[in-house]
Amino acid sequence: HVTRREDYSPPEWLVPEVALDFDLDAERTRVKARLEVTRRGAHDAPLRLNGAGQAPLAVLVDGVAVNDWRLDGEDLIIPLAGGRHVVETEVEIAPERNTQLMGLYASGENLCTQCEAEGFRRITYFPDRPDVLARYRVRMSADKARFPVLLANGDPVASGDLPGGRHWAEWHDPFPKPTYLFALVAGDLAVNRGTFVTQSGREVALGIWVRRADLPRTDHALDALKAAMAWDERVYGREYDLDVFNIVAVDDFNFGAMENKGLNIFNSRYILADPDTATDYDYDAIAAVVAHEYFHNWSGNRVTCRDWFQLSLKEGFTVYRDQSFSADQGSAAVKRIEDVRGLRASQFPEDSGPLAHPVRPESYIEISNFYTATIYNKGAELIRMMATILGPAKFRAATDLYFSRFDGTAATCEDFVACMEEAGEVDLSRFRLWYSQAGTPRVSVSISDNGGRATLRLAQHVPPTPGQPDKQPMVLPLKVKLFGAETGRPLTPERLVLFDTLSESITFEGLAERPVMSINRGFSAPVIIESDRPATDLAFLSAHDDDPFARYEAMQQLMLDTLVAATVEGRADHRAVIDAVANTLGDATLDRAFVAEAVLLPSESFIGDQLVTVDPDAIFAAREALRRDLGTALAAQWRAAYDEGDGRPYAYNPAAKGLRRLRNVALGYIAASGAADIAPLAFRQFERADNMTDRQAALTTLVNGDWDERAAALDIFYNRYADNPLVLDKWFQTQALSTRDDTPSAVAALAAHPDFTLANPNRARSLIGAFGANQRAFNAIDGRGYRFLADQLIALDRINPQTAAKLLPPLGRWRRFDTRRAGLMRAELERIVAVPELSKDLFEQASKSLEG
Ligand code: ARG
Ligand code: ZN
Repeated sequence: HVTRREDYSPPEWLVPEVALDFDLDAERTRVKARLEVTRRGAHDAPLRLNGAGQAPLAVLVDGVAVNDWRLDGEDLIIPLAGGRHVVETEVEIAPERNTQLMGLYASGENLCTQCEAEGFRRITYFPDRPDVLARYRVRMSADKARFPVLLANGDPVASGDLPGGRHWAEWHDPFPKPTYLFALVAGDLAVNRGTFVTQSGREVALGIWVRRADLPRTDHALDALKAAMAWDERVYGREYDLDVFNIVAVDDFNFGAMENKGLNIFNSRYILADPDTATDYDYDAIAAVVAHEYFHNWSGNRVTCRDWFQLSLKEGFTVYRDQSFSADQGSAAVKRIEDVRGLRASQFPEDSGPLAHPVRPESYIEISNFYTATIYNKGAELIRMMATILGPAKFRAATDLYFSRFDGTAATCEDFVACMEEAGEVDLSRFRLWYSQAGTPRVSVSISDNGGRATLRLAQHVPPTPGQPDKQPMVLPLKVKLFGAETGRPLTPERLVLFDTLSESITFEGLAERPVMSINRGFSAPVIIESDRPATDLAFLSAHDDDPFARYEAMQQLMLDTLVAATVEGRADHRAVIDAVANTLGDATLDRAFVAEAVLLPSESFIGDQLVTVDPDAIFAAREALRRDLGTALAAQWRAAYDEGDGRPYAYNPAAKGLRRLRNVALGYIAASGAADIAPLAFRQFERADNMTDRQAALTTLVNGDWDERAAALDIFYNRYADNPLVLDKWFQTQALSTRDDTPSAVAALAAHPDFTLANPNRARSLIGAFGANQRAFNAIDGRGYRFLADQLIALDRINPQTAAKLLPPLGRWRRFDTRRAGLMRAELERIVAVPELSKDLFEQASKSLEG
């Protein structure tokens, strides 16, 4: 069954108030719901309440048991005569048997909920759609010893003891909200408490709830929360609106975290950190996700989405907000580089593959499949482009207008753009194509120089995507600047070109020297730039551009050109890259974190995206050859960079992180050079490290090789962290990403390891997800990587369809490969589609991957 955007119609019944009563128990939980329903408009439609997986034990209308209800599929249909009624239902559910982790489920000893997008219907009967906003009163009762802590949305109202060792608690959320923001948690949890005083002087009680043993790992998340609350006041004028804000960490979670009103629930990997168990990457991700979920309180909760086609309204905007927050916490340039790297790694392939969809999709079979890089990260780029076009002051005026106009309502992407237009005093009519047209625009650029007069030529092309054969030109905000080829001095100020036609020429007059073009600076538009700039110009920009992102980008382009030539033609001229990297490494004025990013080669998958046919073995060989040459030619500089970061006690701040990052990138190049002492060097780092960043980097180096230290390090790591599931995930992941030839069989063996389980999404992703991202191992020419993934997905689909569907996309890239690999991948997709009782989640992903 397909849901279409054009079929939206407003709800026929509203539910202004709801009271829920949970008699909690892991095996069977009773849920009584009391809904005040009101008819909206003149119609005689019955009340339709969505349900999934339960049956009504009782239905009462205005206090009287009725039996004229019926089931339509899983929906409960109740005929009602008047315009206002009280409808009560009762159901029984089994949290312990809920392996999908949607609705009310057990994670370890705790009970918790996940309702976005359509999980609430697995808890009780209700109009489970985001445009029905209700005020919730929630009563929970449970065994007091097993579930001493009972949390729900909003404010605690009352609590007390019950006979038989049980107790109860009642919570009330004064803000009307859709079902997807409902949450409750019951368990034996410890709390790290803090307070935040808002700009208007209200004191908010903050709590981070975890297993008692994890309490020492919660300070970083609490600090990040306070920083995010202050940032949203300062930058967006958004203040928190309840007296309590709780976060709970659970081990079993389908994605990162969830912004339930006043009660965020997190995957524990985005809360728990200490230097011994979490990397710098983990610390940064924790701060970003804590901020993201907090920011949703305004962009998502106070203003929510009318329907799920509008998902990017809250997700794209909130990602943009968390990216800006993180940029303000450290190096904005490095953050931008990381975000663009992520966009290219996950969104560009989506946009050019069978699962491509617009930022505002037109249809879906299963909405869970649309929590994608396109909705989130491309969506964030759309907001960023509008912010660029408006400028900071007007953008702030536009977001103020949006928040005030739509507060308390369920809005659309169109509402947001209209506010941008109105407060920004700009016409965004053609910009709206970004919401409806899928595919990454390709822009070819060239500049010709006529003695003091230069012409910049731009042409754009948006490739066809499934269901969208013909595209219109899009509005592309391109930041452009010209530099003098001899002096390196700017010839023009930076200029924002709004390129919105098929092709255009721009003339620059009075140039004193030959211009070198810096374009799409800061990645001002999420497009692919095709330029014919020669290696000399790219090397020049990598050394002289005054926009750090553009410097990085020039270096990437130089590396990419070199690697594509090497892959396609077998021609390997590494000199330009070696010189440019030497230059960057030797520039003491540069931030170390920036240097670390700038000297990293493009990933194998990104190189593959540039080719007509992906040849994973040739790409790997070309990339390793360049790594080896860089490692050898610049051996002294890598050693210096390695030593610069050596022996410093751990600290978590931008400078210390930068040194660690560069040091570990250097370790990788030293390994690539084939240095004789690499195994003892990496093993020494592994053993002496006082932090996980250095320890895991050393382990990664050892795992890629063939030394005695490899097995030793894996054993030590395993034994040391055997009781920490998040670190054990790293143990699986590091091996699944290994570049060794035997990785496919090693991964198959790990899937049979006693610590491997498909029931925990983090563990499943750490092995299966990482393996799917390992270009060479996954694409082994005998097809066993494909078969392994398909086997795992079929098994996982029976436990947790949502997580299975998320791991399918690597198989959908078949069109990009040679006929042999393509045939093998297709065969696995066909095998998946033929599985009896396949979930609609996996069916949608697999069938679209075959067609698209
Ligand atoms: N809204 C959550 C966030 O902060 C994610 C929810 C994901 N839901 C899903 N069904 N995949 O991004
Ligand atoms: Zn979100």
